[in-house]
Amino acid sequence: MATLSHEALRLLIHEFGDPDEYFSEMIHAPSFVHGGRFESWYVRTSPCPERMVWQLTGGSEGPMVKAASMLRAYGGIGLDINMGCSAPDIAKTGAGIAWMGKPLAEVASLVRSVRAEFPARLSVKCRLGEDENYPRLLAFCRMLIDEGAELITLHPRLRRQGYARPAMRDYVGRLASDLPVPVYGNGDVSSAEDARSFLEKSHCAGLMIGRAAVQKPWIFSTISGLPPAASLTAPDGRVDHRAVSDFFLSRLRECQPEEFHISRAHRFFFYYCDNFSFAHHIKMRIQKTKTPDEIGGLLDDYFVQVEADRFSPVC
Ligand SMILES: Cc1cc2nc3c(=O)[nH]c(=O)nc-3n(C[C@H](O)[C@H](O)[C@H](O)COP(=O)(O)O)c2cc1C
Repeated sequence: MATLSHEALRLLIHEFGDPDEYFSEMIHAPSFVHGGRFESWYVRTSPCPERMVWQLTGGSEGPMVKAASMLRAYGGIGLDINMGCSAPDIAKTGAGIAWMGKPLAEVASLVRSVRAEFPARLSVKCRLGEDENYPRLLAFCRMLIDEGAELITLHPRLRRQGYARPAMRDYVGRLASDLPVPVYGNGDVSSAEDARSFLEKSHCAGLMIGRAAVQKPWIFSTISGLPPAASLTAPDGRVDHRAVSDFFLSRLRECQPEEFHISRAHRFFFYYCDNFSFAHHIKMRIQKTKTPDEIGGLLDDYFVQVEADRFSPVC
């Protein structure tokens, strides 16, 4: 996830327990190919180089193919082409979900050419598209597979849908039963129990967890049934939110360029603060801060004022 699934967040998640795969922030192919100033930060591999999936975005074939070829050097599980991002800034450049509306021959050519340059696992992240049209979605995914995609992740929402309505998870089940490759489901997973229910109902091969991985970086360890990390929990096993916040802010300073510190901290705490009783209030105050140190100070004050919020059970 752009601005979220960077190395600092991965290190925090790792402290609790790893997922099977870590999808990188989306890597903008033209910038990566041209050696943009910040690109090296997007391809850092800690804490589990062998679990990395590099997600690539771009609006035209040339840079995507070149970037795919360059990404071979970074190891990991594979490469994921983003055909699901509906952010207007991305889609208007022909990237993300714009691929789902292009002529099939153009998309097929992209996937075939990336496939030829990238020997490890090739996957594609999709949304439902412009409207609910399952035959068209199925034909699109079959074409991706014919051209070499080995895994499809579906975020079952339309292009125009934000997060207000629930993800239409039934579509994940339909694709999982109709496609000859593994399908990962994505959308609104909020707890280990919810993850289990999603898997059982859709029979998909795996789940991609987005926002909940930020709000509950322990969610993967909970799903695996692992005990929570001692360094970030109280002796009774409850999460110590102050320790988590300090850990994250320290890793952010170490693993991200200074120019990114405050924007990434704002983004992280936008989701993480949902663990707190006065989430809206503390979020708004954090969004106004100018440095990570200020955030640390605000949280220290918050935990003095709302002592009960400092610890909560892992769930
Ligand atoms: C801030 C933000 C950035 C995101 N960036 C990406 C991205 O770079 N690549 C991607 O495939 N999805 C991205 N997404 C979408 C998520 O991966 C996911 O599809 C969506 O949030 C639904 O899953 P969730 O309910 O588990 O969060 C992003 C979402 C958010 C909120």
